[in-house]
Amino acid sequence: MQELEKLKLELKKLNAEYAKIKEVPAEKRGEFGRELNAKKADILERMRLAEEAMMDAEVLPLDITAPCAPNESIPETYSVFQGSKHPLMTELDRVVKIYQLMGFDVVESRQLDDEFHMFDSLNFAKEHPARDGYDTFRTEEGLIPPAHTSTMQHRVLKTYRNKLEKGEDIAVVVPGRVYRNEDVNATHEHTFYQCEGVYVSKACTMGDMLGILREFFEKYYEQKLNIRTQPGYFPFTEPSLEFMIEKPKSLGGKKGDYLEMLGCGMIHPNVLKMAGINPEEYHGFAWGGGIDRLVMLRYGLNDMRYFESGNLNFLKEF
Ligand code: DAH
Repeated sequence: MQELEKLKLELKKLNAEYAKIKEVPAEKRGEFGRELNAKKADILERMRLAEEAMMDAEVLPLDITAPCAPNESIPETYSVFQGSKHPLMTELDRVVKIYQLMGFDVVESRQLDDEFHMFDSLNFAKEHPARDGYDTFRTEEGLIPPAHTSTMQHRVLKTYRNKLEKGEDIAVVVPGRVYRNEDVNATHEHTFYQCEGVYVSKACTMGDMLGILREFFEKYYEQKLNIRTQPGYFPFTEPSLEFMIEKPKSLGGKKGDYLEMLGCGMIHPNVLKMAGINPEEYHGFAWGGGIDRLVMLRYGLNDMRYFESGNLNFLKEF
């Protein structure tokens, strides 16, 4: 700073010298002028360097206690575009809220897990081809970005099993982001969302499960629905079902137009046993299904890829 001030003063004095040019004899004026110009160029160059050094030095240390009046000092242009919540997150909140109103607890899933939680704890036999059906990604260390929210079942059962001892039921939903090594197209994404449900009590039945699921879908689509099930296969449930709803007329469906919405079933005794719950004494059911598809039906979207596209025109419609 001081250096720059000194140079400015030098420059001022030098500029004053130019006035003397008139007094210099004509034959010496050229040389006199050239000398002044050279001196001036030198001062200007030193000023530039001093300014540069000052800019480098003037990066203020971070002080998070510094006073700040955000709304007064932020230029207008910075506050014009207020983002909005991603439609999938808005809908995921609605989904979770419906289950909460039915009395379910909510546990968030995770974005990196291991072979044990993703497969072993869910009764997938070692080397069983069903493991391949999940098209899992793996990190170099062998960890798995989970391909389904069922990866949380074992933790939920273990964490909540003391409720059973107190005579209460386990009722938990687990929303989460999941990943699969899929060929991406209008109905398949490598990254999508699921919501899992887990219920355990002394005397629950498949009928209770179907009642809960019907209630959920009717609340979500805000109308009465026809439902249907068909046999499915999951190593962690026995029996296993695929749960379908008839596509409502109001959403462009025709009679008999059934859509598969999720997988479900009675929790396999081995899964309960591995989590320290006695399958002779307790029974449970579980389900898991995609959020993206649920939302696509609600809004009449025909391409799942919009969700992860970051396309602002799409996002602004919500
Ligand atoms: N995790 C299964 C999937 O992603 C869906 C599923 C089926 C979840 C049955 C469950 C269940 O909890 O009981 O394909």
